[in-house]
Amino acid sequence: MAHASIRIIHDEHAALAAMLQSLRMMVQRGPGNEPEPYFDVLRAMLFYIDEFPERLHHTKETELLFPPLRARAPQLRETLDRLDQDHARGEAAVRELQHLLLAWELLGESRRAAFEVAAQRYLDFYLEHMRLEETVILPEAEKLLTAEDWQALDAAFASNCDPLTGKYPRDPVYDRLYTRIVMRAPAPIGVGAG
Ligand SMILES: [Fe+2]
Ligand SMILES: [Fe+2]
Repeated sequence: MAHASIRIIHDEHAALAAMLQSLRMMVQRGPGNEPEPYFDVLRAMLFYIDEFPERLHHTKETELLFPPLRARAPQLRETLDRLDQDHARGEAAVRELQHLLLAWELLGESRRAAFEVAAQRYLDFYLEHMRLEETVILPEAEKLLTAEDWQALDAAFASNCDPLTGKYPRDPVYDRLYTRIVMRAPAPIGVGAG
């Protein structure tokens, strides 16, 4: 049976991948004749990614999952270093993207291409990051971590907060924001027409 912590990571990756795919679709589609709802949803998506995964998901990986794996699998050090670097620069990258989106919204077409290029780059970066975790890190963790490692990890993940820092406990405001995005965004994440 899969460990609870692995299941939580998979679930969060799936939710995030759906959000990123929807974001890519919206960037490709463009605002059309309805810029207002378009920019509203894009802004909400980027804000969500900035708030929830950047703070809660990456923190769990970097502070809880990666350290025991580092200790038991020196051969993974380079990959874990790279993923930690991704986590460290992810927040700045999504903030930059939010700024580029505002520039397009407030200053107009001349700033559109810069946002589109940065958005594609960010989406590729993020999906590749999760692919590496799914295909390399999680399978290795299942092989190499001990029963005690799993007990500690599952307990920490179950509360979905980081017991090392005591920061960022699970908060229902994120679920409400996610639902609001889903109501207004196109598939696969949403039920809106986009
Ligand atoms: Fe990650
Ligand atoms: Fe992840």
